[in-house]
Amino acid sequence: MNRTIVITGATRGLGLELARKFIKAGDKVFGISRTREHWTAARKSIGSGNFLLFCGDITSEKKVKELLGKIVRDAGRIDILINNAGYCGPLARVEAVSAKELTEHLAQNLLSAFLMCKYAIPAMARQERALILNISSMAGTRAVPRLFPYSAAKSGVLALSQAIAKENDGTGLRCITVCPGGMNTEMRRELFGAEDAAKQQTPEFVAGVIEQIVNGTVDVLSGGHIVIRHGKITGIFPPPAA
Ligand SMILES: NC(=O)c1ccc[n+]([C@@H]2O[C@H](COP(=O)([O-])OP(=O)(O)OC[C@H]3O[C@@H](n4cnc5c(N)ncnc54)[C@H](OP(=O)(O)O)[C@@H]3O)[C@@H](O)[C@H]2O)c1
Repeated sequence: MNRTIVITGATRGLGLELARKFIKAGDKVFGISRTREHWTAARKSIGSGNFLLFCGDITSEKKVKELLGKIVRDAGRIDILINNAGYCGPLARVEAVSAKELTEHLAQNLLSAFLMCKYAIPAMARQERALILNISSMAGTRAVPRLFPYSAAKSGVLALSQAIAKENDGTGLRCITVCPGGMNTEMRRELFGAEDAAKQQTPEFVAGVIEQIVNGTVDVLSGGHIVIRHGKITGIFPPPAA
């Protein structure tokens, strides 16, 4: 379809599956991640020259500004931005959470998505149509015990999307939040082990629903969010008009 799509965390898990879907649809994907050693496997798995990877930690304002500036100069536009990169640290009760761990969760999930939006919106708002998809979590819609820092950061992601949607109401720029339940990815494996991860929905399934949102076959209003759990869409908020 020849769209320019920016995906953070595009080298594994959900981000890699999203890159695969959009490359297959004929789009150009600009992926961002920190670890170059993972790029060979990601590139091999996608196998297309339209998958361009950039190295950077998106918690750095300087880096985000530089990367987005370069992408906009190269591609001339950003049709879709998917803020997918995230972090979930070890399980701990609130009284055992360190201030450092809370700060890390806020930086890796909320500050990063905010910075990407802050520096992408000026270019995206100039276009007739553009879409920001922020990946939150079911944990962002209701707190999960022993995952307070993650839940708090992901709930902030919902607030970010809602503010962007309202601020750009009546323009061509839309912003939607995607809230998956558990997925079989490295993040889940690290947190709950391989056996548990294998029982979760696949990132391919969630990427497929996101592709449907982008293509309009699943209708989510700007400022709204969708919950995808156990391989099903379990809620769209606000519900689509009957
Ligand atoms: N897995 C689940 O069960 C689950 C459930 C609900 C929601 N989610 C959310 O879904 C999204 C994708 O999760 P996932 O399970 O696919 O994650 P994952 O397997 O841990 O992959 C994360 C990706 O993000 C990149 N990344 C992480 N921090 C980054 C940073 N600061 N700067 C640039 N790149 C960064 C990683 O590459 P590098 O390490 O090389 O940078 C990697 O490519 C996340 O937002 C997550 O919170 C996951």
